[in-house]
This record gives sequence, C-alpha cells and structure tokens, in this order.
Amino acid sequence: MIGVVTTMGGIDLPALYRPVFAEQAPELDLRTPDEVTDPAEVAFVFTFRPPPEAFAGMVNLRAVFSAGAGTDAILACPSLPEGVPVHRVEDPDQALQMAGHAAFHVHWHHRNMARYVAQQARGEWSRVVSGLSPTHKRVGVLGFGHMGRAIAKGLMALGYPVAGYSRRALDPPEPGVRHFHGEGLDAFLDRTDILVNVLPLTDRTRGLIDAGFLRRLPEGAALIHMGRGGQVVESDLIGALDAGRLSGASLDVFETEPLPPDHPLWRHPGVLCTPHVASIPEPAFVVRAIRTRMLSLP
Ligand SMILES: NC(=O)c1ccc[n+]([C@@H]2O[C@H](COP(=O)([O-])OP(=O)(O)OC[C@H]3O[C@@H](n4cnc5c(N)ncnc54)[C@H](OP(=O)(O)O)[C@@H]3O)[C@@H](O)[C@H]2O)c1
Repeated sequence: MIGVVTTMGGIDLPALYRPVFAEQAPELDLRTPDEVTDPAEVAFVFTFRPPPEAFAGMVNLRAVFSAGAGTDAILACPSLPEGVPVHRVEDPDQALQMAGHAAFHVHWHHRNMARYVAQQARGEWSRVVSGLSPTHKRVGVLGFGHMGRAIAKGLMALGYPVAGYSRRALDPPEPGVRHFHGEGLDAFLDRTDILVNVLPLTDRTRGLIDAGFLRRLPEGAALIHMGRGGQVVESDLIGALDAGRLSGASLDVFETEPLPPDHPLWRHPGVLCTPHVASIPEPAFVVRAIRTRMLSLP
C-alpha cells in the first residue's frame, strides 16, 4: 500500500518517519511526493500542512493522517478529495508533553522567572518572597478536550486552582476543575490570572483572542498560547503587553510559521517564544496507529 509523506514546517517528516515505517509497518510503502509516478496509486497521505495541490490526482485515496493533534490545515486544503476520512492520532504521551509545557510556562509567569534571567545577566541577588504559593494564581484552560484535560490535571497536581472553558458542558466532568461553558466565557475570563489557550483552529476561534477578548482578563494577566497561530491577533497582543494590561505571554504558535526573523514578537521583553514544540507525537505510536487503521480497511 503506497502512502505519501510531506514535510512539516521545519520538521523533516520523511527523514523522521521512514525508518519507523520500514521497521514497524513494512506493508506500507511510504514515499515523498516526488517519488510518486502515478497519484492514483496512493492509498494514504501522512501530513500536517499540505501544500494546496498535495492531493491532486489521488483518486483512490483511502485515508489522510495528521502528523499533529490538529487537522485544520488538512481540512482547508483545496485538493483534499471529498469524503476521504482525515484522522488524527491521539497519542496520550503528546497530552503529557502539553501538560509539561503548560506547567513550565505557568510557573514562569507566576514566579516571574524573566526577572531572574535578567538578574543573572547582571549578577544580581534579589528575591521576591511573597506570592509564591500556587494558590495565588488562578489558571484558566481555554479549550477543554484531550489536551486541556491533561494540562488541567498537571496544574492541579502542582496546586493551582484550575478552571476550564468549552462550548458544551463537560461529559464526564473533570474532578477538581471548575468548568464553564456556553455563556460562561466572561465569568471564566474574569477569574483567570493565567490563560492557557488550547483551542482548535475553526471559523469561530480564528482571531478570537483580540484586544476586546484580552480586556476581559484581569489587569496583569498572562497568556500562554499553545493552540493555533490564527487564534491570537498578534498586533492586539503586543498592544496589550505594551499598555501593561497583560504582564507577559508565552507563545508556541504563530500566525506565520516559522516566525519571520524580524517579527517584533521575537524581541518583545514580555514574550517568551518557542517554535511550535509544545508537543510532538512519538513516531512509533503514530506509525502503529496508522498501520492498524490501514490494514483493517476492507
Ligand atoms: N502547540 C502544539 O504543539 C500543539 C500540539 C497539540 C495540539 N495543539 C492544539 O491544541 C488543540 C486542541 O487539541 P485537543 O486534542 O485537545 O482537541 P480536542 O480534544 O478536539 O478538544 C478541543 C476542545 O476545544 C473546545 N472547543 C472547540 N471549539 C471551541 C470554541 N469555539 N469555543 C470554546 N471551546 C471550543 C472543545 O469543546 P466543545 O466542542 O464543547 O466546545 C474541546 O473541549 C489542537 O487543535 C491544536 O490547535 C497544539
């Protein structure tokens, strides 16, 4: 069975995955797009941000697999044939990676670690000794699915008061989490000192986190953005930071990725940037899941 793998914004997926496919799924012949002579032979595609013509001529395509947790860019691809299922692989390890990333950045903002990084550069010993208890910072997790739940559990284990928000009531509920839904967004934002965004990118979440949205957070709140770039209006975020309305931001995803070298976010003193690395699924887990699904097709 022939499959096509594309590159993924700075990650060489073919180099990363081909040895794993060869070892764990020898029935699946994974090729790069330029190695395919007849697109009609392609049974599956493994991709994250496919180029517009990625699926052209794939008239016998059976399935598409996302190399990440989101499928937004695949579903938006104009050449995706209608009716072909698009799968994402829910790697439990990936949710733990997200939880670790969130915990680091919550701690970074709560304990003002940027201050100590600056002090170290000056060789300065100066301590802030109040407000260290996690009970002083109310964390809000925006988007409460697979990733949101794992993040909330990790933060609760560290002692932070955690709330979550999604459109619908939680089923099942998450013990210990105060969950808001539907019309409860204002109440959720109003009690959130550190907002962790893990929303999927949809028509409703694109541009959602703009100046008006940020104003609904308490003065001095911090943003940890781990969802998708298109959700935060970056110029509004910079405006809120410059005005002191927000105390800081940790950004893992950006409107344009890779973030251009001259982008102001790279050098903003209140911002900590990471290059979309909050979590990366484990190749062995992903390949096993793809093999199981492809070999079970009738
Ligand atoms: N930075 C990274 O490395 C990285 C890695 C993995 C994932 N992510 C991001 O995390 C996202 C979430 O992943 P997941 O596995 O947790 O997805 P998921 O299990 O599908 O959960 C999505 C959550 O968002 C809520 N939601 C959807 N639309 C909403 C809206 N308009 N307003 C409020 N809540 C909304 C959903 O609940 P309702 O349907 O009830 O609203 C659900 O709670 C991914 O789509 C991706 O953008 C980033």
